[in-house]
Amino acid sequence: MKVTVIGAGNVGATVAECVARQDVAKDVVMVDIQEGMPQGKALDMQESSPIHGFDTRVTGTNDYGPTENSDVCIITAGLPRSPGMNRDDLLAKNTEIVGGVAEQFAEGSPDSTIIVVANPLDVMTYVAYEASGFPSHRVMGMAGVLDTGRFRSFIAEELDVSVRDVQALLMGGHGDTMVPLPRYTTIGGIPVTQLLDDDTIDEIVERTKGAGGEIVDLMGTSAWYAPGAAAAEMTEAILKDNKRILPCAAYCDGAYDLHDLFIGVPVKLGAGGVEEIIEVDLDADERAQLDTSAEHVHDNLDDLDRLREAGKIG
Ligand code: NAI
Ligand code: 2OP
Repeated sequence: MKVTVIGAGNVGATVAECVARQDVAKDVVMVDIQEGMPQGKALDMQESSPIHGFDTRVTGTNDYGPTENSDVCIITAGLPRSPGMNRDDLLAKNTEIVGGVAEQFAEGSPDSTIIVVANPLDVMTYVAYEASGFPSHRVMGMAGVLDTGRFRSFIAEELDVSVRDVQALLMGGHGDTMVPLPRYTTIGGIPVTQLLDDDTIDEIVERTKGAGGEIVDLMGTSAWYAPGAAAAEMTEAILKDNKRILPCAAYCDGAYDLHDLFIGVPVKLGAGGVEEIIEVDLDADERAQLDTSAEHVHDNLDDLDRLREAGKIG
């Protein structure tokens, strides 16, 4: 098993370390355009292997040769969001980066599965899908595992219970229009709606929607520990063919009556990539929120088309 991480910055290096510590893959290869940086971080991680006790070999490179025949690729290459910068502001620059790296990677690893992390997430996943030429079930975006992770941690904190007992579902795009679903959120099997009042749940939902921005406001750049752990959890599910049920940005063309876009939905994740999109019942309000979120993703895809037509993106 070989895992490639493209972009060895904050999120990329964290994913690489988390995957190495899972000790599932034989190789983890980090690729970055900065010379020496992926090699240096890889060496540092390799030297931690006797302490953490993993046998995965971590290497760094500036070209795609060492990535050939990878099983999973995580694309984190791109600009992070800085204060005052909307995720959507990243569109033009990250389209060129993500499209370019997906195309180069796909040439040497035609049977791989790609997990996109770069923002704006739902659109960058579409860009990687087009550029790689892979079937849609082998391309997906990471956002829901992170966003439910945040939601779950806030609920556990509020109730003073173990995070391990909090299960949650969240759908929609990665951004302010995401749709946390308290009706599908349980604590040890007990619906959260029986344990917290509506106002408290609403506060946690709103904090979750703004959780990426909360971290940007605190430290001047975006998060990497939870995003890295989230991408690594998805990678493990694919490598081990776990058939995990996780919220991922998957290609919908009919599912949830949504068409030709990547958006957060619950999926079965295994060796085949997105093996199934699971359709849950949504009430009128939840459905309306999902539609609003899908409209936002479509608007971003329209922006992408306009930028391409104007020659601003190659
Ligand atoms: P970073 O700036 O620390 O790392 C990005 C890395 O990409 C840099 O090392 C840079 O040299 C590299 N890079 C740029 N162009 C490249 C190319 N053509 N080929 C290879 N490497 C290239 O940024 P960070 O914090 O790691 O964030 C990466 C991306 O992930 C950003 O777009 C950020 O917004 C996004 N993100 C998405 C999350 C999600 O939930 N989906 C969560 C956190 C971050
Ligand atoms: C996050 O949610 C910025 O998308 C990134 O932390």
